[in-house]
Amino acid sequence: MNPHPVIEVEGLRKRFRTRRGPVEAVAGIDFRVQPGEFVGYAGPNGAGKSTTVKMMSGILLPSAGRVEVCGMVPYRERKRLARRMGVVFGQRTQLWWDLPLEESFELVGHLYRIPPAERAARLARLEEVLALGPLLAVPVRSLSLGQRMRAELAAAVLPAPEVLFLDEPTIGLDVEAKAAVRDFLRELNRDQGTTVILTTHDLDDITRLCSRLMIIDHGRLIYDGTVEALRTAYGTTRVLVVDLAEDEPVQVQGAVLARAEGRRRWLEFARDEVSAAELIARLLAGHEVADLTLEEPDIEDIVRRIYRGEAPP
Ligand SMILES: Nc1ncnc2c1ncn2[C@@H]1O[C@H](COP(=O)(O)OP(=O)(O)O)[C@@H](O)[C@H]1O
Ligand SMILES: [Mg+2]
Repeated sequence: MNPHPVIEVEGLRKRFRTRRGPVEAVAGIDFRVQPGEFVGYAGPNGAGKSTTVKMMSGILLPSAGRVEVCGMVPYRERKRLARRMGVVFGQRTQLWWDLPLEESFELVGHLYRIPPAERAARLARLEEVLALGPLLAVPVRSLSLGQRMRAELAAAVLPAPEVLFLDEPTIGLDVEAKAAVRDFLRELNRDQGTTVILTTHDLDDITRLCSRLMIIDHGRLIYDGTVEALRTAYGTTRVLVVDLAEDEPVQVQGAVLARAEGRRRWLEFARDEVSAAELIARLLAGHEVADLTLEEPDIEDIVRRIYRGEAPP
């Protein structure tokens, strides 16, 4: 194990007082992130994702527990940490609304005391990979959401942070803009070794980008591992979708009828209990079948089942 994680979280909690009583937004979580990891942080709405990111980036004070980023306590050492950590929130801008993008970048350069030559070189590279050239003279308020997100990313990584926190950066983006953001993040992680924590409820983001997935629900971590391991642990249920020749009751040993609609039946079965071939043979022995398809569990189903609190089989 690498002895120097870039993020260390231990017993971290955040409780909000609201008019309807206390809300335990983050209810005691533990994890470590090593340099260069690309971590997806997923969970349903209200699970505690943004609250965690805000504590890691020093915007919110934890109610209990410990968080360290690059060996520093974020809320105590925000200024020193600011140069080593970038943050992007999908739903609010960190750029200057009325300034042309170019001037926003200049301001970022001054704020983070990036030497002008270095800033120019990095900016040239970012403008190229994020296709920002035509946008430089445009005030931020006039950018489309996808354009603005590319600009936010450029501003966040301009100081060359070691770790980048992204809170729902692809929310509301069209397919093309999403692809541009993903390509950029993948390269940043691979070429610069930047550690990325990506909060998203877009599981496509995760399967395309992340080496590791953490799932939070009701303020607790309910999964921390690879996407592959998740598939292996939970993805054992397959579904045989059958179109019968006639609308009749179906019973096949080794399968459970999950759903019926007209002449279509959904038969669930466990991968390690019966093969698809054997199940089909049993089915055909008793029924006339017009069509068959086999559905493998996809990551969305698996995560949805975990959200619902279904235990692994
Ligand atoms: N400033 C706040 N005051 C009170 N409750 C809050 C505040 N911020 C978040 N919450 C509550 O904390 C819980 C977690 O919110 P959040 O971290 O934003 O979830 P997520 O980002 O996963 O959707 C929710 O129940 C939310 O309503
Ligand atoms: Mg959120």
